Amino acid sequence: MDVFRTIADLRTWRRAQTGDVGLVPTMGYLHEGHRSLVRAAHTSDDRTVVSIFVNPTQFAPGEDLARYPRDEARDLALLDAERVDAVFAPNAGEIYPDGYCTYVDVGRLTARLEGASRPAHFRGVTTVVLKLLHIVQPRRVYFGQKDAQQLAVVRTLVRDLDVDVEVVGRPIVREADGLALSSRNVYLCGDDRAAALVLSRSLALAAELFDAGERDAGVLRARMRSLIAAEPRAEIDYISVADAETLDELEVVAAPALVSLAVRIGGTRLIDNTVLTP
Ligand code: PAJ
Repeated sequence: MDVFRTIADLRTWRRAQTGDVGLVPTMGYLHEGHRSLVRAAHTSDDRTVVSIFVNPTQFAPGEDLARYPRDEARDLALLDAERVDAVFAPNAGEIYPDGYCTYVDVGRLTARLEGASRPAHFRGVTTVVLKLLHIVQPRRVYFGQKDAQQLAVVRTLVRDLDVDVEVVGRPIVREADGLALSSRNVYLCGDDRAAALVLSRSLALAAELFDAGERDAGVLRARMRSLIAAEPRAEIDYISVADAETLDELEVVAAPALVSLAVRIGGTRLIDNTVLTP
């Protein structure tokens, strides 16, 4: 497995490849969710590239950039065992050299949900993703449904800027008890780990009510809210039942709906979602 630190070296490698290249962008501290994306790339592409870059522009001041978990040696061993062909692991100065001043903004979709709670977050994501697509020039790029809004924003970016890449979305990988895997789960200590189950439980409740015929989005949100309110360690950031494509909040679920939420457990902000299809 080749590990590249510079854009120039990655490009030299890329020029020598024939066949389809798949790209899995990550911020490292890899888990089964990331691994599922790597495996998906292996099945469709001839070569798989994984990027590891904790992208500073998608963190706001006061967020967890400095303490975001990192373990590059472990990540590289995991990717080597998965037979990944190349890893692109640049430092921040390689991606954002002195004088850097160009950003990509996707409108509309980015103002709500995660974007409302984390202004400028998606601007950082779309900027780095577009740069990675230019650098690696993959045939396919893989994202998890765990970050459903990110996936929708990247699809819009690729469509609007005519990027010649296929965006592949993959299902959420969960622990046996339902907790969605996340690099940030390491922040959950002691009782926070058990309390974090309110996210997946509230989504299961929404799915159960929906399957029993409930179509009133307000009822779904209210029932989720009261389930979470019963957990004293949980503080709700948002609960949303939105059109799965436009992310507009719904009154009635008549088309596929993205049910998503962000909840603070202790100091840790977690997100999760599910899609309800009538
Ligand atoms: P990161 O949080 O490392 O996630 C990398 C990819 O793994 C994303 O597409 C994310 O949706 C996916 N992923 C995370 N947890 C998952 C799970 N439990 N099941 C399935 N997929 C999961 O998302 C980012 O990094 C960054 O924003 C990035 C796109 C790399 C840009 O910096």
